[in-house]
Amino acid sequence: MSIITVELGARSYKVIVENGLLARAGEHLAPLSRGRTMAIVTDENVRPHLATLQASLSAAGVASEAIILPPGEGSKSWATLELLTDRLLDLGIERGDHVIALGGGVIGDLVGFACSIVKRGCGFVQIPTTLLAQVDSSVGGKTAINSRAGKNLVGAFHQPALVLVDPTTLDTLPLRQVRAGYAEVVKYGLIDDFEFFEWCEANAAALLAGDADARTYAIAHSIAAKARIVAEDEYETTGKRALLNLGHTFGHALEAEAGFSDRLLHGEGVAAGMALAFGYSARRGLCTGQDVARVTAHLRAIGLPDSAPAANINADGTTLVAHMLHDKKMDAGTLPFLLARGIGKTFVDKSVELADVTRFLDEQREMAAA
Ligand code: GLY
Repeated sequence: MSIITVELGARSYKVIVENGLLARAGEHLAPLSRGRTMAIVTDENVRPHLATLQASLSAAGVASEAIILPPGEGSKSWATLELLTDRLLDLGIERGDHVIALGGGVIGDLVGFACSIVKRGCGFVQIPTTLLAQVDSSVGGKTAINSRAGKNLVGAFHQPALVLVDPTTLDTLPLRQVRAGYAEVVKYGLIDDFEFFEWCEANAAALLAGDADARTYAIAHSIAAKARIVAEDEYETTGKRALLNLGHTFGHALEAEAGFSDRLLHGEGVAAGMALAFGYSARRGLCTGQDVARVTAHLRAIGLPDSAPAANINADGTTLVAHMLHDKKMDAGTLPFLLARGIGKTFVDKSVELADVTRFLDEQREMAAA
């Protein structure tokens, strides 16, 4: 078992990582229940895990009520938020209660946001069941829904009280989803941990094949990295937390071009986006062509896209950069980019000219077509 603490003073919380934890979740949740019925919010795809969780709550003497939402990004909407907050209020949720978010990033983001506004903020617990949610979105308190203007544009920082991670939930996750989540794992190596990138090169295949030790190590290591960064810069004001956005600006443009659909999963967009961030860094003379080749070779080896065409996006630079202008990181008309001086040497550059990024994306497209 690994226990990682996200150190945030009075709002500090633990992330527990353990194989089989879902079946023992009741022991950890009972102290938060205050003898009251706990609401569990989940989606249709997570039903088998819901049964395990409810059985473990019953065994710990805790009653629970499930709210089951439709799966998919469409649930991160005003309409579902309204439905969910009404249900939570109907259940009589109090500020001191803890709502359980059981599922992937969509459920975690939606439930977290609902809990940030119900009665001006109630407690919640994250039980992430996808790799992406386990290593990224369930930790750190970013919550959001999508709006007409774009993805994740309406939300709040609201930290969970506890995060329970059971890597065995990945046993039933489609391989494509595990791979997409893996992009956020290797991201931690690329940001500031060259040794972990080397570990990823050596162990990614085993992890994707379901090797329990590799999986658990990667998840715990990733969460520890994120916990350190969040503790240093909870509200993304100093530039430290912004490092977690490596690959996300390029990736966001690719995802937007794919209509934020299953054509390109978030992690797939991030993978191609990280390759582009390294490619652009090399073009600016910041890192070497060998760095780029090493990053792209690793992504390709595990079946993740390492370019826009590999992600089946053939839009030109102007179109992709237009998508970037809707990025919520826009700051007084400029867009900070995450660039790299090498593997494990990522930094924020606020002086990137979008016209130059447009040229770079057009060059990449021409090279792929040649
Ligand atoms: N997913 C990036 C962050 O939590 O800051």
